[in-house]
Amino acid sequence: MKLRVGILTAGGDCAGINSAIHWFVYSAMDRDLVPLRGMMFEVIGIRDGWLGLASVKPEDPNSLGEWTLNLTPELVRTWDRYGGTRLGTTRINPFNPQTDLSEAILENYKKLQLNALVVLGGFDNLGVAYRLYKKGLNIVGIPKTIDRDLSETDYTLGFDSALNTITADVDRLRTTAGSHGRIFVVECMGRKAGWLTLEGGEASGAAIILIPEHDFLVERVIEILQNRKAQGKRYSIVLISEGAKPRGMQEFRERKGRDGFGHYYLGGVGKFLAEEIEKLAKLEVRYVALKHLQRGGHPTAYDRRMGRKFGIAAVDMIVSEDFGRMVSLKHGEITTVPLKKALERLNLVDVEKFYDTKDYKSKDVIL
Ligand code: F6P
Repeated sequence: MKLRVGILTAGGDCAGINSAIHWFVYSAMDRDLVPLRGMMFEVIGIRDGWLGLASVKPEDPNSLGEWTLNLTPELVRTWDRYGGTRLGTTRINPFNPQTDLSEAILENYKKLQLNALVVLGGFDNLGVAYRLYKKGLNIVGIPKTIDRDLSETDYTLGFDSALNTITADVDRLRTTAGSHGRIFVVECMGRKAGWLTLEGGEASGAAIILIPEHDFLVERVIEILQNRKAQGKRYSIVLISEGAKPRGMQEFRERKGRDGFGHYYLGGVGKFLAEEIEKLAKLEVRYVALKHLQRGGHPTAYDRRMGRKFGIAAVDMIVSEDFGRMVSLKHGEITTVPLKKALERLNLVDVEKFYDTKDYKSKDVIL
């Protein structure tokens, strides 16, 4: 039996995606496994996510060349070491009622004669994948987002690479912060989830960590900074999530409007806080938003390994017709979980367990 499988990446890019594609293709096309599986695979890479699957005209060779490519082990051989997504991605919602692309996607899945579709996505795009599954497509999900806000998995591709970037960038800022005796407010991504900021703050030893799950008081931030100064600390690093907000205020938005999934474009809370500290505490402050630097660059060893494990597991899921589910890491083991369950709620920081709401840092002691 020969199976034709499509694979696409949708939503924000991140490091580790290409590793998952590499290992998916390597495992799918492993000739030694053909007798065991009783099937052979052909893997079609779809460019630019849902846009590619909706736009391709399978009967037109030019359009096929524009929106798809045959993925072979030779082609993807070196992909595992590169960041971003070699297939390209877009942030569009095919179920947007004004610009509905879902019918085109369903039709093209048939016209391309796909037996299954592997979707590398976060909460929004695995949500799209689940809706398509309910409409009859054989969907397998691979979780990827630097936000690590998907439930039912302990890991999403890209998180570790982003965390390492934050840590390295804070190290870099420390030298200049120390030289000048300044405070640095560093804004991290993560949308509604504080994981990147919390763990980035733990890894880099930030003095203050501010996350979306707990609204902060500017006065308390200043108090902590002044106490540190009084203790002889020359400088301080404040890590703040783009979705964090002072008590009683709204999230900060850097642009008007919303994306295809209804999310505001967050950004600017770090700048606000830096200005407030300067104004109210008369301390010298600088502000840095790490923004897409966190999503860029090469995957860490962990993201390459997880890409490998997730990619290989996705092939196994197709072999065993484990559709409507996503690959997951749970307690150190690779498993699969229903998409429906993973999409029930976002995985946010449990403040009571992990966050010190008095000193604005991680709760390291369980006693
Ligand atoms: O979901 C991943 C993420 O990096 C968020 O942390 C961030 O808010 C958003 O994507 C930024 O999106 P864009 O790449 O569209 O600017």
